[in-house]
Amino acid sequence: MKVFENISLKEYNTFGIDVKARRLVVIEPDDEVPPQDGEVQVIGAGSNMVFTKDYDGTVITLSNTFHLSPLTSHLVTAWGGMVMDDLIRWTLDNGLYGLENLSAIPGTVGASAVQNVGAYGAEAKDFIESVEVYDLQERRHCTFSNADCHFAYRDSFFKHHPNRYLILRVTYRLSREFVPNLSYKALEGQPHASAQQLREAITELRWSKLPRPEEHGSAGSFFKNPVVDDAVVVRLKVDYPDMPVYPVNKLSAGWLIDKAGWKGRTQGRAGVWPKNALVLYNAGDCTGDEVRALAAAIQQDVKQKFGVALDPEAIII
Ligand code: EPU
Repeated sequence: MKVFENISLKEYNTFGIDVKARRLVVIEPDDEVPPQDGEVQVIGAGSNMVFTKDYDGTVITLSNTFHLSPLTSHLVTAWGGMVMDDLIRWTLDNGLYGLENLSAIPGTVGASAVQNVGAYGAEAKDFIESVEVYDLQERRHCTFSNADCHFAYRDSFFKHHPNRYLILRVTYRLSREFVPNLSYKALEGQPHASAQQLREAITELRWSKLPRPEEHGSAGSFFKNPVVDDAVVVRLKVDYPDMPVYPVNKLSAGWLIDKAGWKGRTQGRAGVWPKNALVLYNAGDCTGDEVRALAAAIQQDVKQKFGVALDPEAIII
């Protein structure tokens, strides 16, 4: 375990926002989680959060140590702090399939369970067998089955109990047979010969639309795609017959923000990614408040233009 006092969190959030934490505790796979007093903030790779001020408490995270153990021929348990993409690479190298469509998502194994990460027709929940956590409130280990996790679109039980659970390990159920998931429209009809090729195609598709983390900080999609009533779809389709609508009544936040004219715009040092309006990014040492202000301006404008409320996927602290 490593403990740092009064440390910058710039390297601990993918937006690259430079705030300080009074204390940072980094847990390793063999550590016992120490008791905490005072306020606690649990983070994964910080890929889904925006810090707006210094944090006068303890931030707890897991080391990104590569640490996993195959349980059976289909089950693999991975350390919560591991980089998700490192796990995916390992699974394909070892003939275990299913996670390839989630390639190149920045974030950790633990976050895949908290956030039920999803992309290109796949969601983590379809592969998660169980989740081992440390309950910081009750100070004990426990295991959640897939059903206990209450997974939904970018949502889980853990998201509703922030800072209570440290996701120590996630067990995934994978397949020995590669069945390509080409349900996402840009992948349809692509005759991919191998899981590795599909992984490469997905990685390429992803980086054609999202900022590369080493170049520009971001939190991936900043807003969730909103689910609306039938009446809203009917009303908007009159003016915008080409507006994408997914089952059931899920609109595309990126399309709405783009249509409202925000794509490529900056406000202060925060910006809307020029190739994808759903992504807010750090256009140069921005503060969390600049991101928050940009997000609020977008929410207000989309509400005014389309009558649709956007809910952030990212957590503002
Ligand atoms: N669109 C625009 N303008 C834009 C962006 C999108 O018109 O600037 C349109 C696209 O043309 C398309 C529609 O909006 O018709 C949907 O876009 P896309 O397929 O890129 O997916 P998305 O709904 O914007 C979701 C996830 C992404 C995931 C992709 C691919 C959410 C909030 N986002 O984005 O997840 O990678 O699908 O599966 O569900 C993330 O959560 O961080 C993330 C990147």
